[in-house]
Amino acid sequence: MNAIPDDTRQMARIRQRTQALSEEYYSAYQGWFGRGQQVISDADARRVLEAARGELRRLQEGQSAGRIDAPGAATGRLQLLDIAENVVRCETVSGPLKQEIRHFMVDIIPEVMLPGSGYRYTQDWFSYHEGMWLAHFGSLAGRPGLRFLEIGSYEGRSACWIAEQLLTGEGSILVCIDPFSGYPDQESNFDHNVNASPDTGRKILKLRGRSCEVLHFLPAGEFDFIYIDGSHAGLDIMQDAARAWGLLKQHGIMVFDDYGNTKLPVLSGLAVKPAIDAFLGRMDGQYDVLFKGFQVAICKH
Ligand SMILES: C[S@@+](CC[C@H](N)C(=O)[O-])C[C@H]1O[C@@H](n2cnc3c(N)ncnc32)[C@H](O)[C@@H]1O
Repeated sequence: MNAIPDDTRQMARIRQRTQALSEEYYSAYQGWFGRGQQVISDADARRVLEAARGELRRLQEGQSAGRIDAPGAATGRLQLLDIAENVVRCETVSGPLKQEIRHFMVDIIPEVMLPGSGYRYTQDWFSYHEGMWLAHFGSLAGRPGLRFLEIGSYEGRSACWIAEQLLTGEGSILVCIDPFSGYPDQESNFDHNVNASPDTGRKILKLRGRSCEVLHFLPAGEFDFIYIDGSHAGLDIMQDAARAWGLLKQHGIMVFDDYGNTKLPVLSGLAVKPAIDAFLGRMDGQYDVLFKGFQVAICKH
């Protein structure tokens, strides 16, 4: 019998590891790592990351549509994780890009590597901000009776973090507003995540609906902290900001997400940053800026 050439054996091994992934991705993967390539440029690493993101979306869509079963999707995620780890190990990849890849890995890890963690997340729009939030708002932890409001909760990632890290004082609560209608499994994942720990579940109150339908039911001047991360259409942001301002206590804190995100589409003729700037300009003199970057945080006088 002929000996299998090393290259073919290596290819067969890789194929076995990547079989839940698409042919297209597999071919690209083969090109990147198939020949035991140790040197990878930032441009290549970014292509791997973008392709892996696309694959993750494909797995999620396939799973929601019933084309891929849960174990198949979990295997695919593990393989993506494996590929990302390969890239992160390459010494030639720059620090910031490695950091971005690690965030991508964090998105995958909770479901496949840490089943005991109990969370079901498909996106991570929040962990980048945790350090900043701890530095600025960490002193709220332990205070009793805090009232937080979040507009836009998705699967509860930011909500769970807030509940676990900041709402640790007796009787502190978070109200979450979201229509829960835009993404498959969004609401069931939210319910699962906030109830993953009974301590978190009892602090979170879910209000299903768009902010414009729900905010006017809430008591004026009663909230210590409002996080605006719902609709990204300019006019909606201005309305959310104006309504939320009335709900905020004196010395309350308001945080807007995506202020510095230049990659968002312009909706309703107004981008996120100009919409927030319009609100901030109108309220000038009535708040202090705590920080302004990708997010902006203000404290009401
Ligand atoms: C970026 S996600 C929120 C992410 C979440 N804060 C986190 O960090 O995990 C935006 C959310 O806003 C919700 N949303 C969209 N339009 C909304 C509206 N008019 N009112 C309230 N929520 C809205 C979407 O359903 C989606 O869940």
